[in-house]
Amino acid sequence: MATISGPSAAALHSLSPSDVDFLQSLPKAELHAHLNGCIPLQTLTDLTEHLTLPADTTDEIAATVARLKSGLTLNDVSEFFPLFSAIYAITSTPSALGRVTRDVLDSFLKAESNPPPGFAYTPAPECSYLELRTTPRATAQMSRYTYLTTVLDEIEKFSADQAALIVSIDRRMSDADARECVDLAIALRAAGRRVVGLDLCGDPGKGDIATFEKHFKRGKDAGLGLTLHIAEVCGNTTAESLALLDWRPDRLGHATFLSDEHKALFFADLLQPGSVPSPATESNSRRNGAYKPCIEICLSSNLLSRTVQSLESHHIQYYLANDHPISICTDDTLPFRTTLLAEYAQLLAKPPLGLGLGREQVKRIAAMGMEARFVQGRVEVK
Ligand code: IMP
Ligand code: ZN
Repeated sequence: MATISGPSAAALHSLSPSDVDFLQSLPKAELHAHLNGCIPLQTLTDLTEHLTLPADTTDEIAATVARLKSGLTLNDVSEFFPLFSAIYAITSTPSALGRVTRDVLDSFLKAESNPPPGFAYTPAPECSYLELRTTPRATAQMSRYTYLTTVLDEIEKFSADQAALIVSIDRRMSDADARECVDLAIALRAAGRRVVGLDLCGDPGKGDIATFEKHFKRGKDAGLGLTLHIAEVCGNTTAESLALLDWRPDRLGHATFLSDEHKALFFADLLQPGSVPSPATESNSRRNGAYKPCIEICLSSNLLSRTVQSLESHHIQYYLANDHPISICTDDTLPFRTTLLAEYAQLLAKPPLGLGLGREQVKRIAAMGMEARFVQGRVEVK
């Protein structure tokens, strides 16, 4: 059962049953969901109760789970990333990771047995297609290879047109760690496993992106789609964003702090002769000859982590006004207490709870998300 509250829950509550039916009937793709950020609260609680955890971690874990249960309030995005150290202590064995992956996949792809408390709609799957992303972690109980195959074993229980994996590289990783993760992603894909892309994620205030360029290039050359968290906080410089765009990502996560002037510049003029994206990815990010990487929009995540003050001032407005491809995503359903349906509700709900878009426009936005999947136009993977 999903636990939702906050802005997306308010938007969903305000919709008529017919609007909810409409949103549920749309084929939707969830393209930006972090595995450890999307653990259902009930799964986390169960695991916490049944796992034997190192004594020195139990207080921190109990405190984090209690915060997540009571509903998180963040004063700043920097308070968000430390939450994961407690979650990671819970998902550090193959069996816990397998259970979590199963439950996350089910939460997106299977109709819930009950709607969330207080919501009277008929349960339906949150989306038709899920590109789940996760950062391979080596722990005392598993290698990065075991981490990835454990996750893939669960993903591949669904068909290729329902679920696939994006391997995340954390900005805090060393060159050697990033190399190992990308090597694994490439090797698993070559072995027929369902790895479709690479992501750059992690605390946007940390790391030097120059470390990762060669690894993302290798991944791209091996046919993996690229998505990069970019300009997520105001401290991310224009120079950094320009450098990331130079890798020709297919999709961008957030892209909150690109100025309108830079957006116009980046997305109109980037395609120079000789810098054409690889054939594997070009259908995803080119439109009418211009470079138009799909922007993964995470409304609740941005509002609750306070990188955006209101829907009215959200950068989605620019992308809608400029007919730039976007995809609506949840980012982390656990801390942000949302679902994909509730994120879509914020498109349809009347201001100030939502953007007040018409059904035709919402339908088109859902279609843009489906078009930005990494599986399209690629070699068939298992
Ligand atoms: P995991 O990759 O499955 O372990 O999911 C959690 C990880 O995703 C976190 O440790 C972060 O590195 C990353 N993550 C989650 N949300 C965000 C975000 O909004 N921006 C950047 N990284 C994020
Ligand atoms: Zn993210």
